[in-house]
Amino acid sequence: MGLIRTGVAVDSDLLKRFDKHIREKGYENRSEAFRDLIRDRLNQANLQSESAFVVGTITLIYDHHSRLLPDKLMELQHDYHELIISTVHSHLDHDMCLEAVVIRGVLKRVKELADRLIGIKGVQHGKLVMSSPEAYLTKPAKQRKKDGTHPHHHRHPD
Ligand code: NI
Repeated sequence: MGLIRTGVAVDSDLLKRFDKHIREKGYENRSEAFRDLIRDRLNQANLQSESAFVVGTITLIYDHHSRLLPDKLMELQHDYHELIISTVHSHLDHDMCLEAVVIRGVLKRVKELADRLIGIKGVQHGKLVMSSPEAYLTKPAKQRKKDGTHPHHHRHPD
């Protein structure tokens, strides 16, 4: 991966506001902030496609006393097991639970699963967060393993 220096003409007021914004966000320099913007834009563009490969989480907050809710959650997750890498469950207090379902797969199916989980009666709050690594990683998708498990470019210990 090579770095290429590029120049961009920007309105001075706009740049001033951008610099203030990235300082508040804790960026050490403007270049990294620009790179993040570009990656975010490419990511957003990719997420427009129903066939995009995505990774992410579905976060659910619910009261585990709700009738049949834990059973329904379990059943649905088994129905879509091929999308689910793992599930983290935290008991927030006596009643409330937080469940984070880590997913990877085709956007259309992931959205379907998220909608069904979030739609279960008794789920108080739910949110799907997705990222499409193919949009911004430097390694082309075709170099990836067939099962789509390694869409990133670092090495894993064997
Ligand atoms: Ni719990």
